[in-house]
Formats: sequence, C-alpha cells, structure tokens
Amino acid sequence: MTLWFGGDYNPEQWPREVWDEDVRLMRRAGVTVATVGVFSWAQLEPEDGRFEFDWLDDVLGRLHAAGIGVDLATATGSPPPWVLRGYPDVAPVRADGVRLGGGSRQHYSPHSPSYRRLAGRLVRALAERYGSHPALIAWHVNNEFGCHVSRCYGEHAAVAFRAWLRERYGTVEALNEAWGTAFWSQRYATFDEVEPPRAAPTFLNPTQLLDFDRFSSDALLELYRSEAAILRELSPGVPITTNFMGPFRPLDYWRWAEEVDFVSDDSYPDPVDPDSPVTAALGRDLMRSLAGERPWVLMEQAPSAVNWRPRNAPKPPGGNRVLSMQALARGADGIMYFQWRQSASGSETFHSAMVPHAGPDTRIFREIEALGAELGGMGWVERQPVPARVAIVFDWEARWALEQPSRPTALNYLDIVTDWYRAFWDRSVTVDFVRPGADLSGYRLVVAPVLFAAGAAALDGLHDFAASGGTLAVTFQSGILDESLHVNPSGYLGRLGATLGVRIEEFAPLAGPGDAEPPVVAVEGELGPLTGRLWSEFAHAGGAEVVATFAGGDVAGWPALTRNGVGSGTAWYVGTHFDAAGLGRVADALLAGAGVTGVLDRCADGVEAVVRGDATFVLNHRGEERRVVLSGEELTLGPREVRILR
Ligand code: GAL
Repeated sequence: MTLWFGGDYNPEQWPREVWDEDVRLMRRAGVTVATVGVFSWAQLEPEDGRFEFDWLDDVLGRLHAAGIGVDLATATGSPPPWVLRGYPDVAPVRADGVRLGGGSRQHYSPHSPSYRRLAGRLVRALAERYGSHPALIAWHVNNEFGCHVSRCYGEHAAVAFRAWLRERYGTVEALNEAWGTAFWSQRYATFDEVEPPRAAPTFLNPTQLLDFDRFSSDALLELYRSEAAILRELSPGVPITTNFMGPFRPLDYWRWAEEVDFVSDDSYPDPVDPDSPVTAALGRDLMRSLAGERPWVLMEQAPSAVNWRPRNAPKPPGGNRVLSMQALARGADGIMYFQWRQSASGSETFHSAMVPHAGPDTRIFREIEALGAELGGMGWVERQPVPARVAIVFDWEARWALEQPSRPTALNYLDIVTDWYRAFWDRSVTVDFVRPGADLSGYRLVVAPVLFAAGAAALDGLHDFAASGGTLAVTFQSGILDESLHVNPSGYLGRLGATLGVRIEEFAPLAGPGDAEPPVVAVEGELGPLTGRLWSEFAHAGGAEVVATFAGGDVAGWPALTRNGVGSGTAWYVGTHFDAAGLGRVADALLAGAGVTGVLDRCADGVEAVVRGDATFVLNHRGEERRVVLSGEELTLGPREVRILR
C-alpha cells in the first residue's frame, strides 16, 4: 500500500455540487484514501430491508476516477431511528437498569439478536455490492467499538454472560471455586443464577467483575468477528480493520489485534496539555506493538480542535505536522483525519476538519496540503521497522483487576505505566509494549509496572528473561493475585519472589483518592535522595541487595528499591512509585545496567527522537527553540520543527 493520507468522508451531509469540489480539493491535498460510510446506515437503509445504494455508487465512482482508494465502513456504528423503534431490544442497558435511547450514536447492545441480525444483513448487502469494487482498498468494521457503550447489563447480556462462563468454567463448582463464592453467601447452584454485575449494595465479587470485563471485551470482539466473517466470504483478499482508541480501557486490544489485518488507531491529544506528546507517543508505540509484523495506520486525528472537551483548543501552527510525523516515526503507514469537510450542522459542527467552515483558503487547509505533498515523497518509510530494546508489560486484565473497588488503595494503572513510559521518552529511548507471556528475547530491559494479577506463565516468562541475561524491573502491586484473583499461593509476587529476592509482608499505601496534598515518602540510597509516591510497604530483601531504603513514616528503614542477581541477569524490585525525577534516576540505572542508550546524546524538554528504518526523526513539540545533541553534534530545532536525518 502507499502511505494513507485522507480522512473520514461523510458526503451524505452535502449536496452533490459539494462532492465535485470535495474530489477536486482531495486531489489538490494529495489525498490517497477516504474512509466512507462510517455513519451512513440511515442513508443506506432508510427503511427496514430497503436499501439505497445509488448515492454510494456515485461517491465510490468519483473517488475511483480521482485515483483515491476507499476504506469502506460497514456503517453499523449508529443504527437509524427505525431500528430502535421496531426492535426495542437493541437498546443497551446500564448497570443501574436504565435503557439508553437514540439520538446520538452507538445505541445498540452487542448482545441483541435483532441488532446482530440487522447489522449482519447490512454488511452482507454492502459486501455483495462493493466487495470487488475497484476503489475498495480496505474494510472498516463498525467504528470505535465500545467507545460510548462498552458494557451492557440487560437480559440478553445475562444470557450471553452465562454461556461465556459455562465455556470458561465447565461446571458451576469450578465457577464457585474461581470466584471465591464461599464468602458472603454467594454460592451458585446453577449458572442460571448468575447475573451481570449490576448495581448492588456494595462491592461486587471481584472475579465476577473481572470475568464481566473479559466477557464484555470478548462480546464486542465477537461482533467484530461476525462482520469480518461476512466480508472475508464476499470480499476475499481485501484487508479488514476496525479503529482502536489508544490504550482504551474497556477492550483488551491484545486479543483484538489478533483478528485485524492491520491495526488502526484514533488519537486526539489535547493541544494545550504539555504532556500530549508523551501520551500520543505511548499510543503510537502501543499500536506498533499490537500490530507486530503487520502495518498500522493513524486512522483518525483532528487537523485542529475537537468539539468534545470543555475547552477545545486549536492545534498551533505546525502542531498537526509534528504529531503526524511522530506517528510515522513510530511506525505508522498512514495519516488520516476525522473528518474531510467540517460539518455545517449536527453533533460535531465545531470539530475541525481538513476543509474547515472557512474553506480551503485557510491555514488548516494549507497545512493539510503541505503535509499531503510531503507524505507523497515519503514512500520510503513504509513498512520500515522501529527497533526497540526496552519493553513495558501492558496488560488489560491486570489493569481491570487493579482498578476494582476493595483494593489496598485506588491506583490508576495507565497513569503508572505512563510515568514509566515518560522516563524513557525523556531519554529518547524507544519502548515496545508486550503482553504477559510474550517472547522477550529481543529485549535488554523489561519493566513490569503494577502487574497486579498474573498467571504463572507470565511470571515464569519474566523470570526466564532475567535468568537468561536480561534486566528486569518489577514494581509494587505485581504478582499479587493469580488470574482468578486469588492471592498467589506462594505469597505476594508469586514465583517472582525468588527471582527478585524479595518477600512482601504488608502493604502501606500512601495516597488515597480524597487526599488534598498527596503524601510522599523520602527514600535514600545509592541513587541519592528520592521521593516515593502512592505506595510504600513492609518488605524483606531476602537475597536481594538493597539499593534504596524508605527514610520516613511507618516504613522507615524498610527496603524501597532492590537488585538481585539471577542467572546471568538482574532483577530489580521497585517498592514505591517514584516521582518524575526519581523514576528518571531509576530508569538511568536500569538502562546503564542493560547497556541501552537513547537516540540522542543530550535530550531537551519536549523533544523526541526515534529511529525508523534508516531515518532518525527528531521532533520538537514545543513552541520554542530547543537544542539537543545527536551523534556528537549539536542540533538546534526551531519551534515545532521536524528534522528527518537519513
Ligand atoms: C471519534 C469518532 C469520530 C468522531 C471523532 C471526533 O471518536 O470515531 O466519528 O466522532 O471521534 O470527535
């Protein structure tokens, strides 16, 4: 494929005269791909079973004539009003029993037999008509699965949940054992007694909650699969995707990524958040990691402002380019937008578009045109690898388990992972994300932050990595529970206790959600004075060397950071969440131990550097000049300057 450049094209909002101008401007901007039909169900099937394709024939014909490829959506993300009216069971139900209505989008339950039948019929009709259309280059299933409604608690959901549990556990005794129902009189006599975790007096059963998270992710994935199966049958050979949303909490994208032909992602960093370059980079590295050997495409971003934040700041001049180049640097083979032409009415009237309300004689369109021209000359980047020697373990199940109620303290999984990621980003060290149990042999350093619940195979994998010469860092609240959320029988940390040479006796969380001034704890040792946040604990360094010790509070004198030789490698245990400076020093120590260096010799705030193929991308995300050192030479970067060195 050539690099994708274009966006969601929703021509049903406009009369045909505008379509002529659209195609003319697309050519001018160097658009190569248009995503068509994402919200077209009502236009494609205005009444139950009556399809109208003439308009879409026309749109696809025009795009094809202009040499623009079509990423054709299956249009199932927003059912028309006749669906809810004729088939009330389509409406999703919240945990508190409220049925969600129409008038916005995604008002369907993935478990509704009516929805599944109607969606399947629509997909079949589209695939029959366009499955071998010459403009078609990819299928785009639904849109942002789970974005607004990721869990449904209605009766159809209950039936499906029970079937999923039967499949997982076989017998109700096994379920009782896994869920620990001996406590609080929760024992089930049959699967039919089990309900989704609906609104309840207090804490729900933790394993029931986790299984419902697993089930809900699987149920939407099953919906994706049912559409993909129709497309594969009627439109063989055409690649299929569905757009992800970065580290989106409700869906276990490791499982999803196995089912798509290429990964695609939607990314809307806030232009006024100084941390946006980091969180955007994290999302891109996650997509590359999910994709593995397959391509990934930035499917949606805003050319400038969105219209769903309390304040929708524009991207500054050059901001769109630097974030687009960041995606390319981190492995993307396409840069796409929501949407082509800015809506004149409806829910996203003020969301920016490639062609703004003010028309093409605008800085937004000029920046789009310039970027299109630039990408036109960057075919060399396509499919080029992004090497990484450092990996961070990222696990949706551990995240769901950690963030339940009835935990030692309220911790935010993604925030903790992001803090670790930022320490490497600041040092221009490229990071891959890996799922528990992944092959780690290509890495020198692996960090497992708050891997709260993990199976034996995942912990064995981490042990083997360290024992065979790797540098491993495991943080507090890892290996505490197994996959069923039972306390690890061999103690907290499970089999990693021996690997790390650490035994945890008791938790002493520092911060609670209500704290106005989150408490910190002083830590002292060979890395100098450090500050711990969120967590402390009473742990023993059995075999491990104590690198730093808590220096205050109830835990004064207990180890905070340890290092243990294991096989030919090293295993570090990090018993608190260090502040940014402290995490930086720990990252430096880990990188030095692992023999990994960053792309830059000297970094600067807001500048990132990444190697892709034979190119080094150096990107200044800030509005001021920055100086860095690359291969011994000082580089001065202007505001939001992009430097690509080959
Ligand atoms: C995405 C969605 C698009 C559009 C965009 C901008 O979540 O897929 O359809 O709504 O956000 O808000």
